Amino acid sequence: MSTKQFIAEISSKKIEKATFTWQTPSNIALVKYWGKTNPQIPKNASISFTLNNCNTKTTIEFTHKQNSNNVSELENKVDFDLFFEGKKKEEFKPKIAEFFKRVQLYCPYIFDYQMIIHSENSFPHSSGIASSASGLSAIAMCLMSLESKLNTSLTKEFINKKASFLARLGSGSASRSVEGPLVVWGNHPEIEGSSDLFGIKFPHKVHSAFQNYQDTILLVDKGEKQVSSTLGHNLMQNHPFAENRFAQANENLGKLSKILQNGNIKAFVNLVESEALTLHAMMLTSQPYFILMKPNTLEIINKIWEYRQENNSNVCFTLDAGANVHVLYPFSEKESVQQFIDKKLYKYCQKKQYIYDSVGLGAKSL
Ligand code: PMV
Repeated sequence: MSTKQFIAEISSKKIEKATFTWQTPSNIALVKYWGKTNPQIPKNASISFTLNNCNTKTTIEFTHKQNSNNVSELENKVDFDLFFEGKKKEEFKPKIAEFFKRVQLYCPYIFDYQMIIHSENSFPHSSGIASSASGLSAIAMCLMSLESKLNTSLTKEFINKKASFLARLGSGSASRSVEGPLVVWGNHPEIEGSSDLFGIKFPHKVHSAFQNYQDTILLVDKGEKQVSSTLGHNLMQNHPFAENRFAQANENLGKLSKILQNGNIKAFVNLVESEALTLHAMMLTSQPYFILMKPNTLEIINKIWEYRQENNSNVCFTLDAGANVHVLYPFSEKESVQQFIDKKLYKYCQKKQYIYDSVGLGAKSL
């Protein structure tokens, strides 16, 4: 599929001032993306639950610059200020500047505006919950709000598609943070409409067993990640198991697509946990190798297995590229599993912190 459709036409319209606020969620992958080629093209397709409570709220104030265009464009400089939780954050700027650089071809109008960005997360900063997915998708939505004022013929469908496309250029998993409750990113022969360029809503009817699914995030280690996801993705390049892994992930997505439709929750538990452990197995077997799980990650996993066995429960876990554990369970088990978490798992969390979340529907304009 061509990326040409995403290049905004230069508009003769001039908007002096406009402010947009978007709240966009984090997401948790069930089939994981780990390995990519440039520019942020995934080596396999992935699918995630969109979250509800873990999100980023971002406001961008756009002010049209006097005799704008050419100077900034020639200098290749996008003019913006960034405030995080009310404070100016120079240290966050290079990542956002890099994002603007990657999207400027598709959003040339950004050179015409001075942007003031205010951003805040609903989850504690440095909690080990990746904020790049929610953070970049929020900026992408704000850009699309401006673009749709410059070109009023854009449809909602296109706006979401291009927002996901732009967010992907900042962080791959951010492409899955525009819509919900389930988003597929990456071309997959069995998922109609799927693309390497943007995320799409899972196109099939989902069984009631998976409606309103619950996710409690246990904050095991809130420190900075020892290995960035960029480095991790790169280590898949010469990884001895890479090709098998990419094939396996695509196969798993095919299987999960059927499971989500037929409601086979035992098969869901098995596949999701295996995906999480396989992601970490890739890290254990790369060169250099690394371990992102902590002793308490393993304690929690064992407790979940024990509880599941003893209570004939369908609770399971998944992991991100870090030590935190996402405890996934159906809505029907909400009360019992939350009691189990409150009584048995909280003690493995740093500062006893965990976050109750559930599946959500994606970006919201505020
Ligand atoms: O979006 P990135 O480049 O931070 O990569 C995210 C990779 C995982 O979170 C480990 C898996 C996934 O699919 O979200």
